[in-house]
Amino acid sequence: MTSRIQSPVHMRRKIVCAIDTGDLDEAVRTVRRLGPFVGAFKIGHALTLPYGLDVIDRLQDAGAERIFLDLKFHDIPNSVALGVREAARHKVWMTTLHISGGPAMLSAAVEEAHEFSDDVAPLLIGVSVLTSLDDHCLKEHLGIGRGVADQMLALSRLGVECGLDGVVCSVEEVEAVRQAVGHAVIVTPGIRLPNSNVHDQKRTGDAATALQKGSDYLVIGRILTEARDHEQVLHDLGLYGDGAVA
Ligand code: C5P
Repeated sequence: MTSRIQSPVHMRRKIVCAIDTGDLDEAVRTVRRLGPFVGAFKIGHALTLPYGLDVIDRLQDAGAERIFLDLKFHDIPNSVALGVREAARHKVWMTTLHISGGPAMLSAAVEEAHEFSDDVAPLLIGVSVLTSLDDHCLKEHLGIGRGVADQMLALSRLGVECGLDGVVCSVEEVEAVRQAVGHAVIVTPGIRLPNSNVHDQKRTGDAATALQKGSDYLVIGRILTEARDHEQVLHDLGLYGDGAVA
């Protein structure tokens, strides 16, 4: 696909900055610094366990436009629905749940989200197979006959059939997942520059490839939050400035 210049607002809204710290002051500083450059901030257990969901208000006061609450719900339907209700009550933009919780759990979550009006209902994003699992683990320890790639596609399809708004997948899988889920939202973590540290990530890739193959939102953590010059990182990723691609 040919690169084309995107409006800064258009590109900014595709970028989700992952805040992986349990230190609220640090998180607030990150939001103040990066807020003008990204469309949303992703938070998880590290901040919500010590501070509760009120941390969302603190980050919004610091300039976070939208919050992605990544708690990966996985429980019986009623319990997951209660979690989704709290996420909606706190006006989170997006939240995650494990598709392997099954159709009844997914439907309960969708039903709960629909109790809220569209501008408040969180987008429900399914996690199919964690990147920390491999074919051996699925087969030998979890008793699943399919390999990771097939299991991801099967669960992604199931999630969308049950009414989820979208799914998570790495850059490597985005093309196949896009085929499997049609127009559903695809959220892609593991974004790296060609020469940057992969940290603990297994399936990494670059931003332009992810967008070209069909990702809607890119989750970018340490290469942004730990950068001395975040504008340069975003520029090098092709997400900022005149050369931005999509
Ligand atoms: O620092 P980095 O860019 O690797 O952070 C990626 C973020 O995306 C982390 O918050 C991590 O929890 C999340 N994530 C991931 N891989 C998945 C699902 C979520 O890295 N498969």
